[in-house]
Amino acid sequence: MAILNILRYPDVRLHKVALPVTVFDGSLRTLVQDMTETMYAAPGVGLAATQVDVHKQVIVVDVSDRRDSPVVLVNPEIVESSGLSDIEEGCLSVPGIYDTVERAERIRVRAHDQHGKAFTLEAQGLLSVCIQHEMDHLRGKVFVEYLSPLKQQRIRTKLSKQLRKSA
Ligand code: NI
Repeated sequence: MAILNILRYPDVRLHKVALPVTVFDGSLRTLVQDMTETMYAAPGVGLAATQVDVHKQVIVVDVSDRRDSPVVLVNPEIVESSGLSDIEEGCLSVPGIYDTVERAERIRVRAHDQHGKAFTLEAQGLLSVCIQHEMDHLRGKVFVEYLSPLKQQRIRTKLSKQLRKSA
């Protein structure tokens, strides 16, 4: 297992669109293990492959308090959604920035696990918002891009200052 490097906004690679997984092999399972370890180490509640510069439709999420219930979604697809949620979101690619985005409160997601087994998941609340956030990453979209241009400009300024400080 390995801790992977997480891309930081506004890295252009965060805008790449992920391709569906067609082969469920050992390298996919290694990617899932590494992503899970990277998410726990960060620590975060979700990670999309896009964020570690792998442009495949793979996400891992764990919103449990004990951090022992990872959910792996390969080729996720929302087949039903309802309600409105505005839980505050953060992102490992946009450290220190939190804001609310309009999301569906409940979703039904169809996906595969890392072994290729199809399943359907009903999610609400934080899990629902987290899955929608990570699925946006697979489409090349970062949550701050829903915010006003002024807010986005402030975020870019703040993040470039952080980068200079850590350099
Ligand atoms: Ni994110």
